[in-house]
Amino acid sequence: MKIILGIESSCDETAVALVTDGRVILAQRIASQDEEHRPYGGVVPEIAARAHAERLAPMVEATLADAGLGLDDVDAIAATAGPGLIGGVMVGLVTAKALAMAADKPLLAINHLEGHALSPRLADSELAYPYLLLLVSGGHCQLLRVNGVGDYTRLATTIDDALGEAFDKTAKVLGLGYPGGPAVERLALEGNPRGVPLPRPLLGGAEPHFSFAGLKSAVLRAYETGQYSKADLAASFQQAALDCVVDRTKRAMAAAGDVTALVVAGGVAANKAVRAALEGLAAGAGLRFVAPPLKLCTDNAAMIAWAGVERFALGLTDPLDFAARPRWPL
Ligand code: KG4
Ligand code: ZN
Repeated sequence: MKIILGIESSCDETAVALVTDGRVILAQRIASQDEEHRPYGGVVPEIAARAHAERLAPMVEATLADAGLGLDDVDAIAATAGPGLIGGVMVGLVTAKALAMAADKPLLAINHLEGHALSPRLADSELAYPYLLLLVSGGHCQLLRVNGVGDYTRLATTIDDALGEAFDKTAKVLGLGYPGGPAVERLALEGNPRGVPLPRPLLGGAEPHFSFAGLKSAVLRAYETGQYSKADLAASFQQAALDCVVDRTKRAMAAAGDVTALVVAGGVAANKAVRAALEGLAAGAGLRFVAPPLKLCTDNAAMIAWAGVERFALGLTDPLDFAARPRWPL
């Protein structure tokens, strides 16, 4: 059995996990920085980096203690090396390098997006390559054909905002605070999804790309008319976004060729309406639908450790001078 220690610090979650190649999460801890960033309505990079630096080392110790393990029991150290807020990424990567050096263990420099992309395989041992992945988070909105570890065909991306960003900006317009996605989802349950006429950017477009900036602006304009309730605005926004996601994913399904499943991952995959809509789409096409459990959707270290498990099994370790990458497309 192999045990990988994973570290995540690319945005506003400080997270540490221990995961085995038998898909067991031995221990995991997540410290959210929501309280620190809430007054600013979004993540402040400098505050995030400092909070990661304060919390990470004690969290590594505590997570090992939770599992009753020492650093010597671990086979390799995996950390997010990008993309993300560079200060936080550097805190996590440097910590991983120090641990790897001290314990003489290999380092695995993980692409955060690969962590999201492979996370469904941690929860589902049956999920085989290749699969069609909708990766929707605060910073990314892509449709990928996941062919194998490190082998991705990007079928679509967003030409402006990411889906999570659209949720967050809508939440800001409606005064729902930060983080916005879950708040919009909650309020949408009380509203009429057809109550506010909103655009569906790129719906029906030949390429499966996304665009959400126009939708977000339309929410702002509708809000400013004072004609609509916040619940109707939230519900109508979510419905418009969903219509786009389903249409774009359908287009990508036609372009992807043979795949074993339709898979959704990333923070927005925690949204139940998104999951239900995609499940319906997959069922209609006779395709399996896979979504990781909610706590594996938003940023966490188990997905980083799992990507480490997959890379370690292929011998894909990294040198100690691996540089953090603020931008790092899959
Ligand atoms: O993957 P993630 O935790 O961090 C990034 O790598 O970006 O994703 C965070 C994003 C945020 O935009 C957040 O508002 C969104 O995921 N999100 C949701 C929900 N939970 C998180 N969006 C809609 N509905 C949710 N339930
Ligand atoms: Zn993420």
